[in-house]
Amino acid sequence: MKKRPVVVYGASGFSGRLVAEFLREYHVPFIAAGRNRGRIQEVLSRVPGVETADHETVEVDGSVDQLTKLFSGAKVVCNAVGPLIYYGPQVIEASWKAGCHYIDISGEQAWIRQVAENWGPKFAEKGLLAAPATAYMSTASDIASRLCLEAGGIDTLEILSMFKGMPTFGSTQTIFAVIPTEACYLEQNEYKVWPRAQAYEVLAPGSIQTHLALPWGGFPHPVWYKDHPQIANVRTLGGLLDRQIMETVAATEKHFEENIRPLPEQEQKRQLAEMANSVQAGTPPRENTRVHRTIDVVVGRGTTNSVQCTMFGTCAYRQTGLVQAFAAHHLALAAPRKVGFASPCEAFGHRELLQALENFGLSKAKLSS
Ligand SMILES: NC(=O)c1ccc[n+]([C@@H]2O[C@H](COP(=O)([O-])OP(=O)(O)OC[C@H]3O[C@@H](n4cnc5c(N)ncnc54)[C@H](OP(=O)(O)O)[C@@H]3O)[C@@H](O)[C@H]2O)c1
Repeated sequence: MKKRPVVVYGASGFSGRLVAEFLREYHVPFIAAGRNRGRIQEVLSRVPGVETADHETVEVDGSVDQLTKLFSGAKVVCNAVGPLIYYGPQVIEASWKAGCHYIDISGEQAWIRQVAENWGPKFAEKGLLAAPATAYMSTASDIASRLCLEAGGIDTLEILSMFKGMPTFGSTQTIFAVIPTEACYLEQNEYKVWPRAQAYEVLAPGSIQTHLALPWGGFPHPVWYKDHPQIANVRTLGGLLDRQIMETVAATEKHFEENIRPLPEQEQKRQLAEMANSVQAGTPPRENTRVHRTIDVVVGRGTTNSVQCTMFGTCAYRQTGLVQAFAAHHLALAAPRKVGFASPCEAFGHRELLQALENFGLSKAKLSS
């Protein structure tokens, strides 16, 4: 039997399940993989219309050998197992060995840099794509940035990415896992480190009150624009549209610097995971379109020009499922626009991704000068 072209690794997760849901919309046959077959089957059984999705379920241990065996013969791996900074290395190595395109739903800058620097050239040599962060965060703001670039004369991007919602178990683990990592912005195409444990008041269109945002590990944009011939400066802030949670994360960053950083790395990880467990130990309910809104703002500035693009969206996790499925559908049928390390917009086109989000009523772009 012909191998299905797409493997969703981590199909039992909140996000993996949504990737599966949207793959069904795109009629893409897929393998739903993960460490526990029973859990994957139980989670997928709750996907409406799953009986019409061409899929199979595979249990796999996380070793590079087993994963390579599973991926061989497929075209694209959708990696939804996180924190990616912890679990990404084996999966990307196996994808490369198996000759598959690799996309994931990360947002951690330290992981994006690893992919760009260690894996980008290797994937390019084989004509394959490595596109981490093919997810709501930071594809929505990637789209807005590229729309700003179209205005011309822009060399500086200030980016804000925020969503309303209850972070999942995996997302909460990731929020805490990036605390020890170096968060960078870009200044004249050089990485500069953000001050540690500092939160910022930010303004978002459509809101009277200010919000609290963090560099949150730095975001992928500075890596995407590191060697860009036009854009020299990039700063990204983001978080949840929930001041109380953001204050807790900011306080945890301070606590980490003062009390946990001096400890050995394994102990740091253990304590961070424990704190994350106390914030979110389970799976939140399905998102609600009228409640769980997202806002992504990009302000572009040049010497004499300025432009702003705002993405008014909803359901960050559903956007993630859609963006992954759109990308996997593309890769199952055609080559990406760029091989090696690429942002989702470089690989699939910003207007195409925007159209997909608009078609499903999940986001809308508004440009102003
Ligand atoms: N950038 C974005 O916009 C965005 C959006 C959504 C999620 N994310 C990221 O994506 C990741 C997953 O998020 P989620 O919401 O899907 O979390 P989740 O609901 O907790 O799911 C996590 C998934 O990873 C699997 N997993 C965890 N540890 C594993 C391990 N050691 N070996 C194999 N599988 C493992 C889980 O398998 P079991 O079911 O067997 O435990 C589950 O399938 C997080 O890192 C999150 O930050 C990013």
